[in-house]
Amino acid sequence: MFEKLKRWIFSLQGKFILVASVCILIFTVAGGFIILSREENLYRQDLINQGSVLSEISRLMLTNVMVYNELGIMDKQDLIDYLDYFIMNFMERDKRVRYVAVVDNSGWIIAHSDIAEYGKLCSDEATLRTILTLETTITDGSFQNEPIINIAAPLNISTKRWGGLRIGLSTKEVQKSIDALKKEITVLAILFSMISLVIISVGAGVLSKPVISLSRIMDGIKTHGDLEQQYIGLKDRKDELGKLQNSFLWMLQRLRDADKERKKTIEVLAQTEKMVSIGRLASGVAHEINNPLGGITLCFKNLMETQVDSLTREKLILAINDGLQKIKGIVEQLLDFSKMTVTEKAPANLNSLINQLLVLLNYPASKKNIKIVSELSEDIPEILIDENKMAQVFVNIMINALQAMDGGGTLTIRTAKDNGLCVVSFEDTGAGIPPDIMPNIFDPFFTTKGVGEGTGLGLSVSKGIVEQHGGIIEAESMQGVGTIFRIKLPMEDKRC
Ligand SMILES: Nc1ncnc2c1ncn2[C@@H]1O[C@H](COP(=O)(O)OP(=O)(O)OP(=O)(O)O)[C@@H](O)[C@H]1O
Ligand SMILES: [Mg+2]
Repeated sequence: MFEKLKRWIFSLQGKFILVASVCILIFTVAGGFIILSREENLYRQDLINQGSVLSEISRLMLTNVMVYNELGIMDKQDLIDYLDYFIMNFMERDKRVRYVAVVDNSGWIIAHSDIAEYGKLCSDEATLRTILTLETTITDGSFQNEPIINIAAPLNISTKRWGGLRIGLSTKEVQKSIDALKKEITVLAILFSMISLVIISVGAGVLSKPVISLSRIMDGIKTHGDLEQQYIGLKDRKDELGKLQNSFLWMLQRLRDADKERKKTIEVLAQTEKMVSIGRLASGVAHEINNPLGGITLCFKNLMETQVDSLTREKLILAINDGLQKIKGIVEQLLDFSKMTVTEKAPANLNSLINQLLVLLNYPASKKNIKIVSELSEDIPEILIDENKMAQVFVNIMINALQAMDGGGTLTIRTAKDNGLCVVSFEDTGAGIPPDIMPNIFDPFFTTKGVGEGTGLGLSVSKGIVEQHGGIIEAESMQGVGTIFRIKLPMEDKRC
């Protein structure tokens, strides 16, 4: 699960969706925040403006009353009654007003919405400053745990001053509106983010689909070497991705052609190498044929030139037939081995294949004073092989072994079953392979033999054939002691 998520995050689509989502998140949060703070300021400013207008109107009304009092039209008690009436009326008309206070020039409260405040000295610095500077001051504060805006306005006409008026306006309604706005913006931001994400995911899917298909094809080539796979999921496109797709398919076609060429070359090389092996075997084969031929000629001469009884005649005919059968067997082996055709894989027994090939190798071996020992396990099952090709592998290895044992020696051929594999080993007592050339022996054209003696293709062709059969070929050698080549082939048809 975690691995899957990790793979998705590092994919083109994942990265694109993640980056786009982060961008959307940043933009919606930042946008929401900017809109909210702007609206909050607007609401607050609106409240301050309304409060200022209210305080201005009240200020005008109250200064009028102050003038009446000054002129004696209204006595002090009337003034106080009027102020109380004014405050009560004011608070009833506007429910946002939390308190109203009127203070005299010395800062004593002469009227207040809260009766307990009457006659007290005003402690609010902003109000005292307003009385002194004759300028309206607006401050934030709280009243009975409720956030409010305090507006302090001077009561004066020109330089004649009577004190100040202080009004507390609740911001509760404003806060309510802001909270509602916050909710609205949050819902909108979530909706917007979700819709954008869906659009981005669909867009990323559409855009990355051809790239994913191409990378899947690449994966197929990388892991299975499958150049012939079908291009499922690739559609004709006119955009840059279409161009990339076309270039990729063109490149793949070139690869396929090159691969076909390579396979053809390998086939040709293998065939050439086979011809070389046949050439190497030819002198031995000629000798193998020559021996029975000599016998046949002698028998034939006896038959033709001398009078023989019927028993001897029958013996001579049988000997001629024996010789001919032997020649037939050898020629058949050589023809079989030299077959150009690519045969299909078919169940075959490795032991009988080795025995057939030994017919061709016995003479060259005996000529070099080399003993061939075969320890073939009866346990070996039939396995699916291309007999012709496998014969080529065995002959290559056996010729190498004979070539390595110039002063005579022993070539031991073994077959065995090991861990679900059929193992064929060829052990010689030859010169061995120096460790420094060991890593190169399977390279094409690598040879330590003189011109005309070796092409350097034997082992590389053999390795290719064994791998085509899903098997492996290994070499182990010690200089001066000998070399073992092991071929391990899978028992595909599970007959063992
Ligand atoms: N049994 C062996 N003992 C010692 N050296 C060996 C043996 N088998 C292979 N080699 C070394 O590996 C080299 C490569 O072998 P390979 O069969 O590929 O080519 P080659 O025998 O030189 O030429 P050819 O193409 O004719 O077979 C040989 O030249 C030889 O040095
Ligand atoms: Mg060779």
